[in-house]
Amino acid sequence: MATGTEPPATEDHPRGGGVHTRTRAAIRAPHLRTDRWWLAPAATAAGLLAFVVYSTWRAFANADYYAAPYVSPFYSPCLAENCAPMRSGPNWELLGSWWGVSPAIIILIFPLGFRLTCYYYRKAYYRGFWASPPACAVAEPHKKYTGETRFPLVLQNIHRYFFCAALLVAVVLTYDTVLAFRDEHYAWGHMGLGTLVFLANIALIWAYTLSCHSCRHIVGGKLKHFSRHPVRYRAWQLVGRLNARHMQLAWASLVSVALADFYVYLVASGVFDDPRLF
Ligand code: FES
Repeated sequence: MATGTEPPATEDHPRGGGVHTRTRAAIRAPHLRTDRWWLAPAATAAGLLAFVVYSTWRAFANADYYAAPYVSPFYSPCLAENCAPMRSGPNWELLGSWWGVSPAIIILIFPLGFRLTCYYYRKAYYRGFWASPPACAVAEPHKKYTGETRFPLVLQNIHRYFFCAALLVAVVLTYDTVLAFRDEHYAWGHMGLGTLVFLANIALIWAYTLSCHSCRHIVGGKLKHFSRHPVRYRAWQLVGRLNARHMQLAWASLVSVALADFYVYLVASGVFDDPRLF
């Protein structure tokens, strides 16, 4: 909005474009913050980068992802014929033998797509990697801002569909957790340290999935009268409580899924035996 009080563009907005336009406050300094505002985006970028490096290594390794009764969440469900044999496990050979590379790549598209398009992660990596903006009240370096209205960022809108896929993946990981109550000889009624790792992981996966903004909208959106829909109102309240912790759950579940995979890797590669609790 032009107010007629802005200084000439060439004097106070030397770079032009971005936040240096006639419609924004004329501040020469890049920002006026005196705290360590860069710490949060730097830590976020480091954390996400570490996960990307680790998950890429594990997804392409195509090895050490099954140690009875545990299957890595990166490889579940395993949908190609080249999957490791798992008794009663989630190795359903839907794709046949033509698939020649790691079967993790087939399934990781869905949880990764879910996280990549998540509202919280979008904010995290826009700030951490693209400095768009780097932090609150810190000008972004880009001259143009089109938000998520153009390709490819307009594709972020498919998040709601990834949410549905993530629900199915969570169901399969729940099945894997139930199977973790067997021992290495497939006898039921046992628990190992890995069972506890899987229980913690699936609890966090469900909490993160159900705290999704799309879930909140599906559960309680488009209602004119909550009083006429008490069950949906109650569910909306519960999801809303989880939703308030969405960022924490995003990180906790990211770490837990990597730890669950790493645990299976250690057992499957013979670094140590799964301690049996009973
Ligand atoms: S908004 Fe984060 S998972 Fe849906």
